[in-house]
Amino acid sequence: MQNSQIAARRAAAISRGVGVTTQVYAHKAENAEIWDVEGRRYIDFAAGIAVVNTGHRHPKVIEAVKAQLDSFTHTCHQVVPYENYVALAEKLNAAVPGDFAKKTIFVTTGAEAVENAVKIARAATNRPAVIAFTGGFHGRTFMGMTLTGKVQPYKAGFGAMMPDVFHVPFPVELHGVSIEDSLSVLDKLFKAAVDPARVAAFIVEPVQGEGGFYEVPRAFMEKLQDVARKHGILLIADEVQTGFARTGKLFAMEHYGVVPDITTMAKGLGGGFPIAAVTGRAEIMDAPAPGGLGGTYGGNPIGVAAGLAVLEVIEEEGLCERAVSLGNRLKQRLSSLAASVPQIADVRGPGFMNAVEFNIPGTPAPDPEFTNRVREKALERGLILLTCGVYGNVIRFLAPITIPDDVFSEALDILEAALLSAKEG
Ligand SMILES: Cc1ncc(COP(=O)(O)O)c(C=O)c1O
Repeated sequence: MQNSQIAARRAAAISRGVGVTTQVYAHKAENAEIWDVEGRRYIDFAAGIAVVNTGHRHPKVIEAVKAQLDSFTHTCHQVVPYENYVALAEKLNAAVPGDFAKKTIFVTTGAEAVENAVKIARAATNRPAVIAFTGGFHGRTFMGMTLTGKVQPYKAGFGAMMPDVFHVPFPVELHGVSIEDSLSVLDKLFKAAVDPARVAAFIVEPVQGEGGFYEVPRAFMEKLQDVARKHGILLIADEVQTGFARTGKLFAMEHYGVVPDITTMAKGLGGGFPIAAVTGRAEIMDAPAPGGLGGTYGGNPIGVAAGLAVLEVIEEEGLCERAVSLGNRLKQRLSSLAASVPQIADVRGPGFMNAVEFNIPGTPAPDPEFTNRVREKALERGLILLTCGVYGNVIRFLAPITIPDDVFSEALDILEAALLSAKEG
């Protein structure tokens, strides 16, 4: 079968609303490599958008899933519950930052985790409003989309957003938005738009994912916690993209001295199987009445089995430490190219959650064309890259943290060749 044939069928059969970055149709995948239907091999620096941090088909994950398949696949935890749901909840309660009693619920996607985090925060505080950040991404459901701080393509054409959601500029020094700027807008928001006593929660990604891989400055996170405490506002950390060893810690919030009240997780938790979670302070998580939370597939036993295996793999293979060493190699290589590729405006990111941002040389103007060219040149050479950022001028690197050294070196060479070739036009 040819990629082009499937692409034509796809265009005829699937809504264009589901965009695709490549026309590479997957046939099989193993750790950090994907083979397409034509037998061509690619190195995967997307990991299904930060999902297979533990690699495609990690043997331990597959083994756990196969064992679960042989036992049972679905009873619905709300009808006939099962032990591994409880076991994974216990593990997350212990692992998520916060030296206090915690409880967990399981759902299926990141957006659903966000929806539930907001429901729980509202139920616990009896307040309606939520404050999010420009450039943030929280999913494509109604609340997720409303909280998302990027209009195109996520909000455009989808009608009225949910009420009582406000956005504050995310502090990015590189773009001239200081911590003080953000805090001053927050202050004005409390004076002009919403009484802080009506705000249930702040929701923040410790490192913005879709928005461009910008890290929350430590001083800002601390200030946010102060403001939250002062007004009885809860802090929701959206760790859907940052979670599970990606930033060099199991959770990115571990880099701060700030503890969230509620944490959302998805992606990396299931190592390729759909499972998501919300973990938070026990008393907050218990605010909704029985039946108010859940869902038919929430905490499906196969996803749960995968999640338990993923946590073991991260621990056994030292993936937090490996994320730091891989990220350092990647950032060094990119920084060493900055002199010959003047479009490179910034190289950043904690652990192995790294990005390179491109501007038109000598100006602060974003260069999305160059960015796209790098992505295309890399794809031609067999390396799958993803872009991101409000201006589309950032390439984010999300390779499996289990990527073998020789495959990683090969990918870095391809990346260099793609950058140099993109420069030629
Ligand atoms: C930070 C963050 N929150 C929420 C979501 C939504 O997750 P999902 O696509 O699983 O619904 C994403 C997805 O990219 C994300 O990066």
